[in-house]
Amino acid sequence: MKLSRAASPTEHPTEHSDVTVQQLELRLEASRSCRFGVELFEDVNSVSFTRWIETHLSDHRILVVMTPTVHRLYSQQLSACWSVLDVEPRVFVLACDETTKSIDAVMAVCRQAEEADIDRRGVLVSIGGGVCSDIVGLAASLLRRGISHVRIPTTLIGQVDAGIGLKGGVNFGVLKSYIGCFYPPKAVAVVPTFLRTLSGDGILQGIAEIVKLACVCDSALFEDVEAAVTDLTRTRFQEPEVVAKKVLRRSISGMLAQLSENPFETVTLERAVDFGHTLSHPLEAATGYQLHHGFAVAIDIAFSTILASRMSLIKDREALRIVDLLTNAGLPIYHEKLDGSLVESAFDATKKHRDGALNLVVPTGIGRHAFVKDTECLSMSLIGETIEYLRKASHTNARESVNGAISALSRRTRL
Ligand SMILES: NC(=O)c1ccc[n+]([C@@H]2O[C@H](COP(=O)([O-])OP(=O)(O)OC[C@H]3O[C@@H](n4cnc5c(N)ncnc54)[C@H](O)[C@@H]3O)[C@@H](O)[C@H]2O)c1
Ligand SMILES: [Zn+2]
Repeated sequence: MKLSRAASPTEHPTEHSDVTVQQLELRLEASRSCRFGVELFEDVNSVSFTRWIETHLSDHRILVVMTPTVHRLYSQQLSACWSVLDVEPRVFVLACDETTKSIDAVMAVCRQAEEADIDRRGVLVSIGGGVCSDIVGLAASLLRRGISHVRIPTTLIGQVDAGIGLKGGVNFGVLKSYIGCFYPPKAVAVVPTFLRTLSGDGILQGIAEIVKLACVCDSALFEDVEAAVTDLTRTRFQEPEVVAKKVLRRSISGMLAQLSENPFETVTLERAVDFGHTLSHPLEAATGYQLHHGFAVAIDIAFSTILASRMSLIKDREALRIVDLLTNAGLPIYHEKLDGSLVESAFDATKKHRDGALNLVVPTGIGRHAFVKDTECLSMSLIGETIEYLRKASHTNARESVNGAISALSRRTRL
């Protein structure tokens, strides 16, 4: 935090019977800036990765937090990396998923930090998916009123989204990310070879976040994913290598570009990267978090796209390309918990979160977007028909009938 002007006290003496009270009005103006780098590495065994570890972690007390799967798969390789440090870091294996992503998990990390004697200069390191980095980021923001953290995301969602942003947070009952912080990491290392061991679902969930960004901001990224999605999913983002790296790099730089315009969400509450993130949170909660975040995002993308098509905000052909990309990738476009009342309550909750405005992000072409600012133009019948379209489309592979359905639906509802 940078102090931009000195505090200036103004004094107002006030008489109170026999006591003189001095009211002091103090003003502090502060601006918040942040700077961190996201670096891509060939492998954890590479010289450049070891150098990165040395640069960011030597001469600090370190607590490394990783999930049991990551620990089982990578602790041996990683321990070679720690050997460049003077003091071996303490490693905490935290079993965490969406259902246990709570303040208790944050407290468990804080307890470990205390036991590891983490001081003001200490650094927390998260190695895992978005759940792990969200918990660790929040813990770092709380410990001693804020210590550094670095991230080594090991899932696709982590590498293109959760791990490269500024937010940390946990759920509060059914309220997704209700307790959280804006707390940028000191540095992020992206190592695509971690993705080799990720589950097929894990890859798909990350693809949903990439499609989100591509749809609203980057048509070239959309085309690359559209052309290579089958190979990228089959090879866990390893082949074709040039395309996989290009997609990762473009996704990361696109996300960072979006974040840099509005890092603390203080400039505007109209955020393109909120595409796919209006229904997704309540949908995850409605399934008791059985539906993964990435799958819920895919369903939300499909909903917002068909809604936009029916409002004549996007050409049917382009809307269909988006829905086709999701289904060709193997992502869901419908869930039985998606109904009118869930949409209605999601819109209400979103308005509370976005200062009274809905700001629903909808695609207006491939790589372009607009915001539907309020719910007035979104009738229950429009919402109901959109859901019904998705329900039917999720049960059919017949492209022609899908096309026909979009055209028929949008013809009836041109605004
Ligand atoms: N803070 C943000 O800006 C932000 C952005 C997007 C998503 N998120 C959050 O991220 C979470 C989803 O993250 P996620 O998709 O990474 O899921 P996740 O964190 O739940 O991880 C999924 C599973 O994959 C395992 N895993 C991790 N890396 C692996 C690897 N290389 N090989 C094999 N298994 C591995 C983990 O142990 C875990 O069991 C959600 O809670 C979402 O809200 C946060
Ligand atoms: Zn997301």
